[in-house]
Amino acid sequence: MSDKPLLGRPLLDWMPVQGSAWAEKIDFLNNFITYVSVFCTVAITLAMLYYAWKYRKRPGHETSAYITHNATLETVWTVVPTLVCIFVGWYGFVVYKDMREPPANAMEIYVEGRKWAWSYKYENGKTADADLVVPLGKPVRLIMRSKDVNHSFFIPAMRVKEDVNASEYHYMWFTPTKLGEFHIFCAEYCGRSHSGMLGTLKVVSESQFEDFVNDRKKEELPPEELGKKLYTAKGCNACHSLDGSKLVGPSFKGIYGRDAQCESGATIKADDNYLRESILYSQKQVVKGYAPVMPAFEGQFKEEEIQALIAFLKAQK
Ligand code: CUA
Repeated sequence: MSDKPLLGRPLLDWMPVQGSAWAEKIDFLNNFITYVSVFCTVAITLAMLYYAWKYRKRPGHETSAYITHNATLETVWTVVPTLVCIFVGWYGFVVYKDMREPPANAMEIYVEGRKWAWSYKYENGKTADADLVVPLGKPVRLIMRSKDVNHSFFIPAMRVKEDVNASEYHYMWFTPTKLGEFHIFCAEYCGRSHSGMLGTLKVVSESQFEDFVNDRKKEELPPEELGKKLYTAKGCNACHSLDGSKLVGPSFKGIYGRDAQCESGATIKADDNYLRESILYSQKQVVKGYAPVMPAFEGQFKEEEIQALIAFLKAQK
């Protein structure tokens, strides 16, 4: 039996194991809601049956007393459930917020979904098809995109699931806390072989991970290096400096994660999706003070080249 408190461990044996730091928190809330629901269902049903029997119609008890209200009772059954709902909402929000804010030092892995398989690309350019391999105890951020229809990347043991689609990057992150192999599922119906769109997450030791990730082919360039080549090959350098000086377009120095005022009036954070959009559809959100002169590159980059450019931009601190 686990030494974790009752609320912090999986409800029944058939629940997935707790493989990440999220698991205990998510199981806590799931268990809390389940226990409260079971308690209320049993209490209300028993009270209902008891009073139905107690006030049944019988000789000498033809009508019951006329009761208008009971202020104490009504206050209690309003205030207590309200507090329970506020707690559930608050706790869920706190954990959700953590889950949307990956730490800056998280290792990034690109995930691509397609009918009907997953593939992965690591920071040093290593690509892999079958298993997603991550080191124990290190935060991992998955940046995910689909090549075709909508999919959903689901690792029950890590308690993370996120849609994967073709038009933008979706991300999720977790810190694996248990060595071993865990199921990966597609959780969005995506066609004939949806149920066969499976994978395995392998959580290994740091040294095993180093062996795995450094065993790569020569042509598997780190995305950042490929991006650097594209930066000059595609002529980005004509308008975007790397040292902070203002040319035709904004400098790339420190661009990632920066808040930019756009001509439309909106303030936009330069995250993966904004950078992707600015490369492909450059006229959509032009930064204030610059002329909308950048050509759109839609259809001119392969997906991995866009990823590479973004990796290059991220490195311009
Ligand atoms: Cu991919 Cu279901």
